[in-house]
This record gives sequence, C-alpha cells and structure tokens, in this order.
Amino acid sequence: MSGILKEHIDLEAIQIRPMRIGDLDQVLAIEEKSFSNPWKRDHFLYEIKNNKLSESIVMEYNGQIIGYAICWHLFEEFHLANIAIAPEYRGLGLGEYLFDYTLSRAQNEQYYVLEVRVNNLPALKLYQKKGFSILFTRKNYYPDGEDAFVMVKHMKSGDNV
Ligand SMILES: CC(C)(COP(=O)(O)OP(=O)(O)OC[C@H]1O[C@@H](n2cnc3c(N)ncnc32)[C@H](O)[C@@H]1OP(=O)(O)O)[C@@H](O)C(=O)NCCC(=O)NCCS
Repeated sequence: MSGILKEHIDLEAIQIRPMRIGDLDQVLAIEEKSFSNPWKRDHFLYEIKNNKLSESIVMEYNGQIIGYAICWHLFEEFHLANIAIAPEYRGLGLGEYLFDYTLSRAQNEQYYVLEVRVNNLPALKLYQKKGFSILFTRKNYYPDGEDAFVMVKHMKSGDNV
C-alpha cells in the first residue's frame, strides 16, 4: 500500500462494493473527465445487468464515488476493461488501492491482462509497479489511432508468459 495513502486518506472511510445502476450518474461524471472516448451509460448498464463475466465495482470515500473498475473473468484470464479515479482524488494512492483490490480478485486466474494507451504514463507506471510486463503492442487500438500495450501478469501456476 502506498505511503501517501496512509498519510492523507482515512482508510476506514473507503468502501469497495459492486456497482449499481443508481451509481451511474457519478460513474459517468468521472468517466467523462477521464477518457477522450468515454464509455456511455449503456456500456456500464450492460456490464451491470447482462455481462455474466463482469465484475463491476466502485470505490466510495465517505459515501461519494471516487473511482471504479470493470473487470472480466474470462476463462483463466482476468481482464481489466476499465478503471478510473476522479481527477481531484488522483495521486493519493487510491488508484493503487483499487487496483490492488482487482489483483486480489484475480488470484484464482492464470493471468491478469489489460490494455493501456502507450502514452498513458500514470497507468503504465502503476501497472509496471505491480509487476505487469508488456506482452505486445496492438496498433491503432483506440478510436483516435493511438496504440495499446497489452500487459500481463502471471497470477498462478500454469504456463508462464
Ligand atoms: C491511472 C489512475 C487510475 C491512477 O490512479 P491514482 O490514484 O492517481 O494513482 P496512485 O496515486 O494510486 O499512484 C499509484 C502509482 O501509479 C503511478 N502514477 C500515478 N500517477 C502518476 C503520474 N502522474 N506519473 C507517473 N506515475 C504515476 C505511480 O507508479 C504510482 O506509484 P508511486 O506513488 O509509488 O510512484 C488515474 O491516473 C486515472 O484515473 N487516470 C485516468 C483513467 C485512466 O487512464 N485509466 C487507466 C486506463 S488503462
């Protein structure tokens, strides 16, 4: 856990729980401030209501949603589809705290896989800090043409990458 988190944040005031439909106004507000091609309400609704492989979570701080993650359990692969922290709460260790939670949820899978924009330094650094390696580059992966690194962490015994 980050030292910064301990100094500035009351750990007792943090709750991580499943995302609900009633959370979506707050989630969408963060999403729109975080990405150039934000997910729409329907994307989140699909994850909450229809996608049986999805684990969608929010992080609350004193009752306010300040972050979320969408993860998929995909046949031995745990896949991070989306993660964000509200801009005003970044740099405090909360993204690492939420990402650590997703890592704990991936413990029974073989691999944890994610895509990240090649120029997204904060996210790249976070994933490298957590032991992820770049597996390969997906060219033109994002709608604006930016490439993605596919990153992976081996979680439990089986064929190693
Ligand atoms: C990526 C993101 C979730 C990180 O959340 P955060 O709460 O700001 O991160 P933390 O404060 O927990 O920092 C954890 C680690 O992330 C990395 N990091 C975070 N901000 C960074 C920055 N501005 N520059 C470089 N590294 C950074 C560091 O490795 C840091 O560890 P350290 O403090 O020991 O150096 C956040 O920046 C975000 O929501 N970005 C917009 C959405 C996004 O890009 N999501 C990822 C899609 S793949």
